[in-house]
Amino acid sequence: MPTTLAAFDLLDIILWLSYIIGSVTFIFGLKMLSNPETARRGNLVAAAGMTLAIFTTIFLYRTQEEDGSRQHLHNYVWIFSGIIIGSIVGWYAALKVKMTAMPQMVSLFNGMGGACAAIISIIEYQSHYNPEAWNLTAVTMAGMLIGSVSFAGSMIAFGKLNGNIGDKVFPGQTYINMGLLLITVAVGVYITLTPVQNMMLLGIMAAMCLLYGVLFVLPIGGADMPVVISLLNSFTGVAAACGGFIYHNQIMLTGGILVGSAGTILTILMCRAMNRSLLNVIIGNFGGGAKAAAGAKEKGTVKEISLSDAAVLLSYSKKVMVVPGYGLAVAQAQHTVHELEKILEEKGVEMKYAIHPVAGRMPGHMNVLLAEADVSYDKLLEMEDANNEFPTTDVVIVVGANDVVNPAAKTDPASPIYGMPILDVENAQNVIVMKRSMNPGYAGIENELFYSPKTRMLFGDAKATLQKLVSEVKAN
Ligand code: TAP
Repeated sequence: MPTTLAAFDLLDIILWLSYIIGSVTFIFGLKMLSNPETARRGNLVAAAGMTLAIFTTIFLYRTQEEDGSRQHLHNYVWIFSGIIIGSIVGWYAALKVKMTAMPQMVSLFNGMGGACAAIISIIEYQSHYNPEAWNLTAVTMAGMLIGSVSFAGSMIAFGKLNGNIGDKVFPGQTYINMGLLLITVAVGVYITLTPVQNMMLLGIMAAMCLLYGVLFVLPIGGADMPVVISLLNSFTGVAAACGGFIYHNQIMLTGGILVGSAGTILTILMCRAMNRSLLNVIIGNFGGGAKAAAGAKEKGTVKEISLSDAAVLLSYSKKVMVVPGYGLAVAQAQHTVHELEKILEEKGVEMKYAIHPVAGRMPGHMNVLLAEADVSYDKLLEMEDANNEFPTTDVVIVVGANDVVNPAAKTDPASPIYGMPILDVENAQNVIVMKRSMNPGYAGIENELFYSPKTRMLFGDAKATLQKLVSEVKAN
């Protein structure tokens, strides 16, 4: 980039304008992602901004050479080979991935972003090291540390979610991790403040960063991975922002900061919706450790309901509310539940969906699934609205959900989910719970709701049961 204002020309102005347009599309795109109705368009808007920024950078960006000349990028074969291969792989993976495997894919792609940021830092340190610019070296070290941790951590998260890696906890792990992180940061500070390029030390630091990323994620409960992925996502954003700082590239800086802050906010919101601190997620091993509490006392007897009784109950109701959960996603029952909705509505029954913010295994899981089945957005009620409507609801059908309807969150201070806001389904007249067994959900704890006098269980796979129920309701 030129150092004097007079050296700027039309190409620079067009490049900056494209960066401003790109930044604005990122912000609008992000905003649109917060509503299911505009989310798809929001994604496209941000992607269009990113495409513009990438191509203007490739064709308009010029480096400032030592002789004062400015040169366009020249390694187009490498650049376009990377773009083409990456686009094909990304496109194919996104088309093929199952909804339930989405967290793994997000983790994998996020890891690639972290690796890119780390590699940028290593190459910049190797090729453009300037002993006088210690602040640039500091940002380079930060980019490498954060990017490598994000890469290694995301790979472990991917392995865990894919079932290839189990939770590994060993004594003193938290202290070992903290010690390793401190030493790694100290090495980074040493490299920054010593005015001599030291590639060997940089290599050692890179290895330590990767090791820390692995050790950081290894002990975290497999089911806590979405929170960790969101956290690692914010790390990648910060690492990319460091890259933007190194290259004086405004769009990379803006994009990185937006990803960093969005990831941080999402992490906080997910923790809040589960009523847990981030520290508890990182060292608490919720999904595993909490199983100790699973040996809860017997709460009474469980009543079952037959398909035909359930069909009659639903057909003669005025208002029905479905509570979708993780089991609905596993069973891929979203289309069948929509079919039930259409048939009940034909019979004059109003049917809505109560969406808990952490139902399922990733943010927005239920909204995405139901949108896929063309369920109208105005039928999706957020937790507070749904809680207001339960007292006037005739039947609640809980489909493959468990923790998000567990009253222990309100009544049992010893419960690991105590304090987590839940859907108050017990305020409805009748509750039908569809699941395969009495097994607990993610938190590994007993659910008192299943023993309530209002509740009747309809055991079986959510999709198969709903299909039979649809036939029964049709026959009524
Ligand atoms: P869970 O509490 O995990 O309960 C899911 C239930 O679905 C299980 O009890 C299981 O019982 C049933 N199930 C599984 N496969 C089924 C199938 N094929 N057909 C019918 N039922 C099936 O789910 P939830 O209520 O959605 O709660 C989500 C949990 O995940 C919360 O504890 C939340 O904190 C946690 N979590 C969520 C997120 C986000 S962002 N969504 C992130 C991290 C953690 P059976 O085995 O008896 O069938």
